[in-house]
Amino acid sequence: MYILGIDTSCDDTCTAILEDGKRLLSNIVNSQVIVHHRYGGVVPELASREHIRNIVPVVRESLRKAHLNNRDIDAIAVTMGPGLVGALLVGIYFAKAFSYANNIPLIGINHLEGHILSIFLEKRSPPFPFVALTVSGGHTNIYHVHDFGDYTVLGQTLDDAAGEAFDKIAKLLYLGYPGGPEIEKLAATGRPEAIEFPRAYLSKDSLDFSFSGLKTAVALYFRKWRNQKTREHKIKIADIAASFQAAVVDILIDKVIAATDQVGVKSVVLAGGVARNNYLRCKLQKAMSKKGIDLYTPRLEFCTDNGAMIAVAGYHRIIRGERDDLTLDAKSRFPLDQIQTPH
Ligand code: KG4
Ligand code: ZN
Repeated sequence: MYILGIDTSCDDTCTAILEDGKRLLSNIVNSQVIVHHRYGGVVPELASREHIRNIVPVVRESLRKAHLNNRDIDAIAVTMGPGLVGALLVGIYFAKAFSYANNIPLIGINHLEGHILSIFLEKRSPPFPFVALTVSGGHTNIYHVHDFGDYTVLGQTLDDAAGEAFDKIAKLLYLGYPGGPEIEKLAATGRPEAIEFPRAYLSKDSLDFSFSGLKTAVALYFRKWRNQKTREHKIKIADIAASFQAAVVDILIDKVIAATDQVGVKSVVLAGGVARNNYLRCKLQKAMSKKGIDLYTPRLEFCTDNGAMIAVAGYHRIIRGERDDLTLDAKSRFPLDQIQTPH
């Protein structure tokens, strides 16, 4: 079974073709970074226009790479939310037209389900149940994953997502966009223990996150530092980046440990754009090994947004007999446990 997966939830036009839920025949990501770079963030209107320009050529490229044509595709899976509505609609309308024209099933996918299931694109995938941490530009969530299509939200961010905090701090420090990779690069030359930024753990047993206090603390520190009041401590800008990154990573790891204790699982999946961060990957690996928990992390290209993860999520819904019709619509907010799942 060939599934075409499409994601246009944010600033990348992503398509992929997956055979039988496992074999990836093509995975194309058309990045819009050049378009949004000078604004220091994603401009929704520009993102929609770029998706309109790109969607047909990117799907064609996917088919060409897979040595297939339209009529070979058996089903189409498309991200229906959460994300930028104008951007999502481009993928959704393309998918509806493709499904109608080729008379094949259509299935709408929650973007976060895609991130969680991206690990099933790898040879080494976890047994159910497991805990998943999805950390991206729009989301920071911890899930208890019981099975394909069966998820409980254990924790979520109350304000900024982890990736958003990376992007905002990068902007503050005059680094480029997207900010995560820039902070990571700079942090590699700094000292994580140089500045003790606050770590918000919220109430006891809470698995929720809050990064706004940390963001404010870094902004205040940076302004003071720039005015030279703290230069005598020999703090470099790289120390600020490293100390900020360490604070985010400490919070993420501590909450994952608490989640595994609460639900008693032996496997953890790390996914989403921030999962590309090597400092996070290494520290989480160490923490999990210490607790005898197996950590599963997708390769870097499957961490950031891609069509392959939507295709894999689509495959598991299609084989369960789920279908959407042409009334499928975009949802800017779409908690994962809102999905109707047949049990
Ligand atoms: O999953 P993704 O591609 O898009 C969303 O669904 O949001 O994640 C993008 C986010 C951006 O905020 C970006 O700064 C962050 O992932 N990111 C990183 C790294 N690479 C990407 N954050 C920290 N370290 C990185 N190396
Ligand atoms: Zn994403």
